Parts: sequence; C-alpha cells; structure tokens
Amino acid sequence: MGSGFSLFPEQASTIASRVDNLFLFIVAVTAFFAVLVSVLVIWFAAKYHTEDPLAVGESIHGSIPLELAWSIIPFLISIVIFAWAADVYFDLQRPPDQALEIYATAKRWMWKFQHLDGQNEINELHVPAGRPVKVTFTSEDVLHSMFFPSFRVKADAIPGRYSTVWFTATKLGEYHLFCAEYCGTKHSGMIGKVVVMEPAEYQAWLAGGLGAGSLSQRGEQLFSDLACNTCHRSDDSGRGPSLVNKFGAPQELANGTSVAVNEAYIRESILTPQAKLVAGYQPLMPTFQGLLSEESVMALVEYVKSLRTTSGGEPRSAAEPGVTPPATPQKK
Ligand code: CUA
Repeated sequence: MGSGFSLFPEQASTIASRVDNLFLFIVAVTAFFAVLVSVLVIWFAAKYHTEDPLAVGESIHGSIPLELAWSIIPFLISIVIFAWAADVYFDLQRPPDQALEIYATAKRWMWKFQHLDGQNEINELHVPAGRPVKVTFTSEDVLHSMFFPSFRVKADAIPGRYSTVWFTATKLGEYHLFCAEYCGTKHSGMIGKVVVMEPAEYQAWLAGGLGAGSLSQRGEQLFSDLACNTCHRSDDSGRGPSLVNKFGAPQELANGTSVAVNEAYIRESILTPQAKLVAGYQPLMPTFQGLLSEESVMALVEYVKSLRTTSGGEPRSAAEPGVTPPATPQKK
C-alpha cells in the first residue's frame, strides 16, 4: 500500500501483471481507434468544407477493398483479444490442486475467514507468500463481492452458492480487501486487509491460534452430533452412501445423470438432499436447511473432503472416518 498517487494498485500476485497487460492492450487499441476516427472527422470536415450553399457532394457507391479492410482488421483484433482474455480467464478460474484452502463467509458488514487449522479471523486474512491460496466463500445474507485489488481477483459472494477466488501472493506486506458490491448502508465500511507473510511466519501464526481444533475436526464433531454417521458409514452398509473417497470423483445419480463431487455439491446435498440423489439410495435424508450456519456447513464440507483412504497426498484427517456406531439410530 505505497504512498503517493498511482493509477493502478500494486501488483502483488502472479496473475496481476497478466491482467494489467491485457487491460492496457485493450485500452491502447480502443484509444488508437478513438484518436484515428476523431482526427479523420476533424480533418475531413476542414478539408471538404465549402462556402457554396448549393454545392452537392460526389455520390459514392461502395468500395469492396475498403469494406473488406474494415471488416477483417477489427475481426482479427477482436480474435486476439478473445484468445488472450480466455487464456487469462481460464487461469483465474482454475485454482491449482495443491492450493492452500481457506473458507470465508460474507455478511453485513464483515468478512469472516476460516483456516483449515481452525484459526478464524474477521476482516483480516493472513496468507503465505509464494503459495497458491484458494478462498471458497458464500454470503449469509445479500450479494457481496470479494475483491483483492493488488491481486487482481474478485468474485461475488452469493447467498446459497459457493464462489472461489485464488491467487499466489508474490510480495510480503498488507493489501486491501474490499467489498465490491453495494450491500447496504455500511457497504463502504466492509473492508479489510490481507497480510502476506513468509511461509514459516505464517505457520507460526497458525500455530498461535486458540486450539479450537481444525475445521475438519469441527466437521467431524458435527457429523456425529447431527447423527450423520448413523447412515453414512465408512463402508456401504449404511442407509446412505459412504462418503469416503467421494470428493473430486464423479457421482452417479438416481436420475441417470452424474455430477462432479465438489464443495457446491456437498453443500447442496446437506441442505437439499433430494436435489441430486445418489443412484441406488432412497430419499430418506432430512434437510438441514435453516438448521446449520454457513460456517457449520463449511466444516462439514471440509470433513467430507478429508475422508480419504488412499494415499493420494498427505492425509488431512487422522481420525478413522465416520465409523462411530450410533447409540440410538435416528428415525427418519
Ligand atoms: Cu458487502 Cu458491499
């Protein structure tokens, strides 16, 4: 957050310079044509000006080379912009697999961030430099928009839906976080900061938390408190499908289609279980709509994501998944 006036916020992420270069290219192209057209208008007005009130201009019946030129040249320029923008956009939309995951909720008028290790923070986000960070978030009330100007990333927070932004911070320091969608009287106060730290420093900061348990441990606790584990066992013996190794894989549905198991699908299946019913199971699960905060849903999502038996990377939950036998099976 340097002092003095600058046209652009500091470039503090890997994508920032690419977004700026594309933006500057589009500005340059449009400025060039704006100047060209303005100059020609003025020049021709002066050149063909006449004092004779009865003068009639020469009639022109078209020119094939001219028409081809003003069709093909803009076409080629717009194709260049399209291809270039698609390249940047795809990278903006696709977080790398090994990204550090952070959850967030927006509400009037604050941002609440949840780190997987259990740390919570409000209107402040601590991240390590040099590592991709993916923030998955939703809104608890109205539309907001998470905007990190120095990272050149922004996405709307939409009630009932998960959005993501990702970035790799390249410079240590503090940067702005804004709400970029008008959300009520204190919209302008819905601001925060992101603190980019050395990775070791970040680890130390995480360890200095309250020790409330990791997000997936909180999810595991909820999973048994809500008696989810009575139906979702670690094998397929329960009334509901096993959730082990489900995340990231395609899932066959009762209606014959299939769905990618991502955060949004897990959230939907908790809140409206019948929306996309898994093939081979009865619609027995009750809805948890209105019973769980978005933060609790995120903890459950993170727990389901942690249920992995194979060693495709470091295991994120040490606990044996969902095998606690229920004391009293719940009636559905
Ligand atoms: Cu939240 Cu504007």
